[in-house]
Amino acid sequence: MESSSLVKFLENKAILVTGGAGFLAKIFAEKVLRSQPKVKKVYLLLRADDDKAASLRLQNEILGKDLFKVLKQKMGANFNSFISEKVTVVPGDITLEDMAIKDLKLKEELLSDIDVIVNLAANTNFDERYDVSLSLNTFGAKHVLDFAKKCNKLKVLIQVSTAYVSGETAGLVKEVPYDMGESLNGRPGLDIQLEDKLIKDKLEELHSEGASQDVIKLTMKDLAIERANHWGWPNVYVFTKALGEMLLMQEKEDIPLVFLRPTIVTSTFKEPVPGWVEGIRTIDSLAVAYGKGRLPCFLGDPNSVVDLIPADMVVNAILVAAMAHANDKGNLTIYHVGSSVKNPVNFNSLHEVTYQYFKNHPCINKDGTPVIVGHVKVLGSMASFKTYLSLHYLLPLKGLEIANMMLFQYFKGTCMDMRRKLNHLMRLIEIYRPYLFYKGIYDDTNTEKLRMTSRERGVETDMFYFDPKTVDWKDYFMNTHLPGVVKYVLK
Ligand SMILES: NC(=O)c1ccc[n+]([C@@H]2O[C@H](COP(=O)([O-])OP(=O)(O)OC[C@H]3O[C@@H](n4cnc5c(N)ncnc54)[C@H](OP(=O)(O)O)[C@@H]3O)[C@@H](O)[C@H]2O)c1
Repeated sequence: MESSSLVKFLENKAILVTGGAGFLAKIFAEKVLRSQPKVKKVYLLLRADDDKAASLRLQNEILGKDLFKVLKQKMGANFNSFISEKVTVVPGDITLEDMAIKDLKLKEELLSDIDVIVNLAANTNFDERYDVSLSLNTFGAKHVLDFAKKCNKLKVLIQVSTAYVSGETAGLVKEVPYDMGESLNGRPGLDIQLEDKLIKDKLEELHSEGASQDVIKLTMKDLAIERANHWGWPNVYVFTKALGEMLLMQEKEDIPLVFLRPTIVTSTFKEPVPGWVEGIRTIDSLAVAYGKGRLPCFLGDPNSVVDLIPADMVVNAILVAAMAHANDKGNLTIYHVGSSVKNPVNFNSLHEVTYQYFKNHPCINKDGTPVIVGHVKVLGSMASFKTYLSLHYLLPLKGLEIANMMLFQYFKGTCMDMRRKLNHLMRLIEIYRPYLFYKGIYDDTNTEKLRMTSRERGVETDMFYFDPKTVDWKDYFMNTHLPGVVKYVLK
């Protein structure tokens, strides 16, 4: 490590963050600015047509959030001048070479000044078009690496990946890289360039047939699932993130590179405020549906471990890893940032605490009455899911007909709508099924070593905490996370 103080390390450093308006990026930027106001510059690369649009995004989607209230208080009247001096928005797009940075002066400044790059830009949609996901999560990561190679004094590139690049692998998942072309099902022949060609050929074929945008979109989504499944991954998000890792690993040369793989990221544990979150993320879609009384049953293994990690811990882990690997041109290091080994929690416990929370703090119906929640019926297999539906709707139906009835009850839509929603529901069930019956836990030996060596060397681990053992999940859900979801997402 360059210095034993992370606060010192950040002093006078220039940090580029891609996906600058994203959930983790803004928590990262806030933490850097608050913990080291003498940072040289935080560059936030975000998609925008021009500087004006980028500045608007900075004000509305980043600084305007409650997340920045603590920093605003700390800086008082100097907040605006502090931000002008320390934060620069960079209109860009990582799917293109040089991240499509058009402002040549700004590009030169980045190439000469940047010390740390954190690649957070991604498309996290499980049901995305193949062309969109591949160009961003795979080739986008490569464009960031190519840019990093051109930076004169780059100390480290942190590629934020996901623990779920391991797909449905059961048991202890190690912090190891995937070799180029390695598939999860052992099928030989995975080739990123051929996947790209497949997409281009398909698009050309569709265009020559005069296919509509809707048809093109659906075909690209179907191709995404087909190719991900073909190589053993459950969805296009984790598949293309895994391909991104492979590409970076192959092309890294002597760039100090870290893959940080968080698990399921939840609201902030402590800083800058406990419970800050935005958007309805994975696990919260269930909690929100439940709180609103729209989750009569739950399909999944109640004993499955749900690997959660609060967002502020992920951000702290990124910062500690950045310092630990600054100028480390040797091997690539991978960090699983999660809780399933050190402090596991299962669906059952989460359900219980969610029940207690919404029992005590009910959502309110449109007519002003409280939503009464009860324990949901847990269905441990697809077969029991179907049986439950047929019993509930007293129908001796099978497959699509059952789902149709269910949709009729829940959505009360038109026939056309029903069919569309039915297809959507079945697609979602198929995409999320692997996570509902998940049997993997994420080894965090490297991350634990990082925690220990940082502590031993005097890194401010109280300030840059990322130990999941310190989280009492029941207390966190009851008093931090669920109130945060209600306050910041359901408001
Ligand atoms: N949140 C989690 O639970 C979780 C768990 C594990 C790993 N991760 C990883 O952590 C990273 C950040 O996740 P997050 O939850 O913060 O995601 P997020 O909120 O969806 O942010 C991703 C950002 O990427 C930006 N982006 C999309 N396409 C882009 C492009 N072509 N060029 C530049 N930027 C682009 C998006 O910009 P727009 O605002 O313009 O759409 C968005 O702001 C991702 O790499 C994800 O894989 C997240």
